[in-house]
Amino acid sequence: MRFSREGLLVALSTSTVQAVNNGLARTPQMGWNNWNTFACSVSSALLTSTAQLLTEYGLQDLGYKYVVLDDCWSAGRDEADGRLVADEAKFPGGMKPLADALHEKGFLFGMYSSAGEMTCARYAGSLDHEEADAASFASWGVDYLKYDNCYHMGRFGTPLISFDRFNAMAKALKKTGRAILYSLCSWGEDYVHTWGGSIANSWRVSGDIYDSFARPDDLCSCTDAADPACIAPGTHCSVLAIINKVAPYIDRGLPGGWNDLDMLEVGHGGMTEEEYKAHFSMWAALKSPLLLGNDLRIMTPSTLTIITNPAIIALNQDPRGRAVQRISRNTSVPKDRYGVGETHVWSGPLANGDQVVIFLNAADADLDMSASLEDIFIMDGVGGTAAQVRQDWAVHDLWGKGARMETEDARRVLDAEGQEARRAVLKRLGWYNATEVPYAEGLRRRDPRLFGEKIGVVEKGGDLSVRVPRHAAKVFRLQSVSGEDTARKSLVRDEL
Ligand SMILES: *[C@@H]1O[C@H](CO)[C@@H](O)[C@H](O)[C@H]1NC(C)=O
Ligand SMILES: *[C@@H]1O[C@H](CO)[C@@H](O)[C@H](O)[C@H]1NC(C)=O
Repeated sequence: MRFSREGLLVALSTSTVQAVNNGLARTPQMGWNNWNTFACSVSSALLTSTAQLLTEYGLQDLGYKYVVLDDCWSAGRDEADGRLVADEAKFPGGMKPLADALHEKGFLFGMYSSAGEMTCARYAGSLDHEEADAASFASWGVDYLKYDNCYHMGRFGTPLISFDRFNAMAKALKKTGRAILYSLCSWGEDYVHTWGGSIANSWRVSGDIYDSFARPDDLCSCTDAADPACIAPGTHCSVLAIINKVAPYIDRGLPGGWNDLDMLEVGHGGMTEEEYKAHFSMWAALKSPLLLGNDLRIMTPSTLTIITNPAIIALNQDPRGRAVQRISRNTSVPKDRYGVGETHVWSGPLANGDQVVIFLNAADADLDMSASLEDIFIMDGVGGTAAQVRQDWAVHDLWGKGARMETEDARRVLDAEGQEARRAVLKRLGWYNATEVPYAEGLRRRDPRLFGEKIGVVEKGGDLSVRVPRHAAKVFRLQSVSGEDTARKSLVRDEL
């Protein structure tokens, strides 16, 4: 009998050494956070009206269930008892009525603070107030805490100093007795990927994302995980920069604790449709939390078709919880005017024995890309020794026909008036509903809506080849068909 190293890790993590052990985020958390679009323009009304749209567009029933408030909600501390007070103009009656309203609709409520004297927007922070603030959050009905890293008064610079500062809140949350998902936002500092899993359900790996696929920016200097020249994690990290940063430690994510690649930019307007599809696919397959960041009131059909693709979301919510790993990177490709250009192939195992393979083209040209079964299953044995190399594999395109909502159907969902009419459209489409059939169950039953469009077969020892447009990703689920009729030739070529 053979045990892979990863198999051993998974076995251990499900028995004795489960780190944070609060029972939450067994798959990456999904939801919506106001920051990317609204920044400091927050209010109860914004969150409850967005929640209503999450319900009406079927997003809540696809798993987007955390509604997360970001910075700028506070009016400081009560002079008498030192407790945090919500801004009464933005949050009439405080946070409790908002939490109640969200719970009433079946959502979970996310809150924000910083492990500093102030938050990033210079409101009161929770450093050295951890117990009192955690008690406030619990009493308000909070289910999630995004905990930022601004104004930490110099208490960083070694893993242990940062660990202690963030662990103070972990302990305080635990002491409340309420199940509160703990989401660290320390921007990858002090090797958080090495200790975040001990105390938190997710940890940011980079500076803040911005709405660009690949444009480099001086405000995101820490793009290489091992770069000693890194000064500041920054606020302008492209999708490509974040992917490159997490590549060396994708294996740190496990059920209960995840590498957080930051909130999604899909639908924000700065990228092409192909770029947004690639962004969404990579976040899903890397097992990042999926927090939407767009304004749902002005959503386009294109955006809706991306964020509702259940075959892609099922990668993210796969019970095995193993992120894809990069199996090849090619920088000898056409470069854009910033000097950026590279292609990657990513591959990873899924709970039912399927394998996900992603061809990511961040070069400045459409390109033919390919990978052999030997490369695709490198994790299971080098030099073609993996048993899977000797099997035939059906190839399913997870953005192919049927996987993604048609644009016209998305327009019908958006144009319908009110919850009942929208639900009726979704019902007619037979759209996936994870409230009815959780992803693990849908995968077990082989629900066709989670398996994309079958486009061919790769025979044993063969290659998977595909044409990938500039700034796009092709995402395939490979399913073993050994023993089945494998008459088709091994080379799969996607028609574009
Ligand atoms: C999803 O299923 C649940 C449970 O059956 C149901 O209440 C809900 O209305 C469904 N959602 C949609 C968008 O149809
Ligand atoms: C990198 O990509 C270019 C352009 O597609 C190709 O010509 C070259 O062979 C690739 N290099 C490797 C090592 O695969």
